[in-house]
Amino acid sequence: MTHSAIENHRVVAGPTVRFESLLATLGITCEGEKSGSASSDFGLSQEAFTLVEAEGRLELRPPGEAENSGISAHFPPDRFVGKGSKSILVRAFGKKANVIFDLTAGLGGDAYRLARSGHQVFASERDSAIYALLISGWERDRELGNVDLEVSKRLEFSQEEGARVLDQIDQADIGVYLDPMYPRPRRHKALPKRELQVLRQLLGDDEDDAAVLLELARLRAARVVVKRPHRAPPLLPDVSFALSTKLVRLDVYVNPDLMQAASS
Ligand SMILES: C[S@@+](CC[C@H](N)C(=O)[O-])C[C@H]1O[C@@H](n2cnc3c(N)ncnc32)[C@H](O)[C@@H]1O
Repeated sequence: MTHSAIENHRVVAGPTVRFESLLATLGITCEGEKSGSASSDFGLSQEAFTLVEAEGRLELRPPGEAENSGISAHFPPDRFVGKGSKSILVRAFGKKANVIFDLTAGLGGDAYRLARSGHQVFASERDSAIYALLISGWERDRELGNVDLEVSKRLEFSQEEGARVLDQIDQADIGVYLDPMYPRPRRHKALPKRELQVLRQLLGDDEDDAAVLLELARLRAARVVVKRPHRAPPLLPDVSFALSTKLVRLDVYVNPDLMQAASS
């Protein structure tokens, strides 16, 4: 697991002893006293997103909502998810256990599902605040015994830009998964509505960026799977095949040269 500081001016953290060093490594400033006081009492900026420790994990609260409950990462994530999108995600990568790089980890739900279905998953998230949520939820649920040990062995999170991860890959026959943010509101089964609203408020959309990442991934991976809203066009043409539910489509790009390279 690697943590690195990527500049983040819009997020501050409330008092926390447990996550102080994680947040320092990520370059997120802790404000207020190290007491158990409510976040509204310690003078956090109303213009910034706030990371608050709650029940042993970090929560992210949008500006002006420091007193409301925020979003956080939970493992396993399934209480939020419709069955349809879960099974098409697993089907999109095929039955053979494989190494998959999830380059848009977010709150880790899809990465967890892929690891649970038998794949070895390396999931990376570039945003420091989202990564702080992800890793604090992952550590907390492992500590509480909520995570199956075998799944835990198959899943690794890091804070990294997806293109950098791709640069470091030297194996053939790998899978890449991309679930970028979309420019307009969409209904999305991987994350519940509140999570998506807050993510969009913090991050905006990364569609152009995602198309570039997909170009790179197609050169490196035997199979790339991209999650799209049902009615949105593919990020790039030449989709090999697609799997759909009513709300979500998975576009699958197969690179036969890399599959052959791996088996020869
Ligand atoms: C829609 S969310 C992913 C949700 C995720 N599939 C889940 O199950 O929680 C998209 C995430 O990808 C991250 N992201 C987008 N582009 C990225 C890139 N190039 N490298 C790393 N992370 C990226 C964003 O910061 C955001 O947290």
